[in-house]
This record gives sequence, C-alpha cells and structure tokens, in this order.
Amino acid sequence: MEKDFMTTNFKNLNYIEQENLGILTIDREKKLNALDVEVLMELRDFLEELMTKKLSIKGLIFTGAGSKAFIAGADIASMSNMEEKDGEQFASLGQQVTLLFEALPIPVIACVNGYALGGGCEMALACDFIYASENALFGLPEVGLGLIPGFGGTQRLENVVGRNFAREMIYTGRSINAHEARERGLVNQVFSDKEALIEAGKKCLKEIMQKSPHAIKVAKKVMNRGNDLTVEEGLSIERQKFGSIFSSYDMKEGTKAFVEKRKPEFKGN
Ligand code: CAA
Repeated sequence: MEKDFMTTNFKNLNYIEQENLGILTIDREKKLNALDVEVLMELRDFLEELMTKKLSIKGLIFTGAGSKAFIAGADIASMSNMEEKDGEQFASLGQQVTLLFEALPIPVIACVNGYALGGGCEMALACDFIYASENALFGLPEVGLGLIPGFGGTQRLENVVGRNFAREMIYTGRSINAHEARERGLVNQVFSDKEALIEAGKKCLKEIMQKSPHAIKVAKKVMNRGNDLTVEEGLSIERQKFGSIFSSYDMKEGTKAFVEKRKPEFKGN
C-alpha cells in the first residue's frame, strides 16, 4: 500500500511511504534539483517534522526527480546576489539539513541518479551511505565558482574518501563517475538505471528492517559521534552505549532467540 503524506505542504519535495519505508524526492527537475533557500527550508521543515512525529517508517531513501540529476548543487543564481551575512546564513541552513539527516534515528540511503555536485554531493555525504546509477557524477566544483563547499563537504568528504583524495577533489573541482566513486568508497554499489537503483535501496532497507531498530538507532548515533572524537573518546562512548543497550528489550530478545535457535521478534526498544 502506498501512502501519500505531507506532499501538499511542500512545493519542491515529494514524499511517499511504502511498506514501512519512506521515499523523499527533491522535485525541482527544471533546475536539476538545485538547492535554493526555499528548497532547503522545505527540507529542514520536512526532516524536523519527521523527527518530532513518532516514526512509522524504518528507513528512508533520498533521491532527486528525473533521470538527469540527484542535485546539481546549491542554487548558483541565488548565491550570486548574496553578501557575506547571507552566505553564512545560507551555509548554516544547508548544514542544518545535513545534521538533520544524520540525526534521523533510522538509516538513510542516498540514491544518486545523475549529477551530485557541490551541495548535492554534500547532501549525499550526510546520508548513511550512497547507492548510485551508472550515470551518476560526483564532484565539489565550488572553487571554480570562487566558492568553497559550504554544506559540510570540507569536513565529511575526507572521512569517506581519505584526506588526500578529498583535497584533490576539492582543489581541482574534478568530478568522478559512479565507478570511480565506488572504488574510492564514496558509493557502495552501482546500478544500471534509476529504477534498479531505487529497487536496490528498498531491498537493502528491507534487509535492515529485519534487524533490531533500536540497535540500529544506537549504532548510528555512536558512529556519528565517533567522527568528531579521538579513537579513545569514541571507544569510551561505544563502551557506554554498548553497556546501556543491554537493558533494551531487543537485545534480550535477539540474544535469547539465537540461543533458542529461532527468529527474533524485535519491538524497537
Ligand atoms: N544552480 C542553479 N541552477 C542550476 C544549477 C545550480 N547549481 N545547476 C543547473 N541549474 C539550472 C541551469 O541554470 C538550467 O536552468 P535554465 O534552463 O533556466 O537555464 C537548468 O538547471 C538545466 O541546466 P543546464 O542547462 O546547465 O544543463 P546541462 O545538462 O547543460 O549541464 C550541469 C548540467 C553540468 C550540471 C550544469 O548545469 C552545471 O554545471 N551546473 C552547476 C553545477 C555546480 O557548479 N554545482 C555546485 C554549486 S555551488 C555549491 O553547491 C555550493 C555549496 O557547497 C553549498
């Protein structure tokens, strides 16, 4: 059963729920789904709403409308008239959206079809991982516009592809195709076309849904925190959370089911 939800409130977003999964699509195809203030505010409001309501979904796919682009970046035309203060506010809004993707207590897969440039690549980097179609192209071309990445690219890219290659990408502005992105660890898997890409995203989320939602929420939180910390600090948080998860129903059920050689029935707490 497909359920439309929240679509009427947002001009540039499309959202459906299907079998406990959400599919969020940026729908500004004429501008290759470029992110202006309006689109970013809608994304922020949507994700905040998703955070505050009791989540009925167990995973989210994030994609772009059409076959040409996931997101071709922040809206360059709108940025061309901005002054320093506007620029900082614009980056702050884009960064807020990336932090909300990270804060969602469910897995988020970016399904990248076509261009994922600048702010588009940065949005994908804020998701848990990336699946791509053959025509995907990733890059941070900002320096060619006299800009720098502003929605987290200077921080998140090197965690994913390593310090040196991140610097080469950002300094040259060069784009890489889906296969090179996969070799570099930016993309997990490449699919023939958009349809296969979305199907694969759904299939993976359905596999994840068989596991404990509570354990996945905690694992995501610990991994996100670990990025900002030294290994020792990260290990300390991992230890605390590992201990606290022992008081959850899902952990008792999961371990008991293993011992009893049966399938676990998780409740999500
Ligand atoms: N901002 C605003 N409009 C954009 C856009 C963007 N980032 N990318 C594409 N568009 C618009 C084009 O202006 C065009 O609009 P019109 O039809 O009204 O002229 C429409 O989308 C279709 O684009 P093209 O005609 O350019 O399509 P193409 O197939 O010839 O080229 C492309 C595709 C190579 C992606 C080219 O559009 C392009 O280079 N786009 C800009 C990519 C870019 O530099 N992104 C980074 C932006 S900076 C940033 O993101 C900063 C940050 O970190 C926050």
